[in-house]
Amino acid sequence: MKQTIAVYPGSFDPPTNGHLDIISRASCIFSKVIVAVSDNSTKNPSFSIDDRFTMLKEATKGMRGVETDIFSGLLVNYVRRKKATVIIRGLRAVSDFEYEFQMALMNRRLNKKIETVFLMPDESYTYISSSLIKQVARLGGTMEGLVPRSVERFLKEKK
Ligand code: COA
Repeated sequence: MKQTIAVYPGSFDPPTNGHLDIISRASCIFSKVIVAVSDNSTKNPSFSIDDRFTMLKEATKGMRGVETDIFSGLLVNYVRRKKATVIIRGLRAVSDFEYEFQMALMNRRLNKKIETVFLMPDESYTYISSSLIKQVARLGGTMEGLVPRSVERFLKEKK
């Protein structure tokens, strides 16, 4: 079988159980999945790049074929440097589609050899987003079942 390397990029500010669900699904399909934290986010992240990387590294510990990394610059250039041919993105709901469609087509224009593959998380994660998680944590709501333990710790320290 073809050995295909896939990159799952994102801000992961912070990673959630929804992200982990996508990573786990991708790891069943591809020989290697590189989870790549973006260091040039235009989103003004709440957690530092080192914290986001550490949270992901801890949360994916023990997952076979999964690596974590940090990238900056154009995603397609990073994907090529890693000898990967696939970009993974999660689609939670129709509302994600327009943004994801634009990004996928731009990335295809930048490098037509790289395919974007969309995976759907379990329906129990479709309403989760990193911003909502941060808001609920800040206001003292429970994080049970929404984020990995490592992330829960970081969120508590930030409060
Ligand atoms: N479960 C839970 N939440 C999810 C999710 C899932 N399965 N999938 C997406 N999300 C949420 C995230 O929590 C995040 O929520 P927020 O907006 O509240 O923070 C949101 O969806 C999107 O986040 P993420 O998946 O991390 O993607 P992003 O849009 O932050 O990252 C990059 C986009 C980094 C991949 C993109 O900007 C990029 O490639 N940058 C590099 C520069 C480049 O090449 N630009 C040209 C690209 S066309």
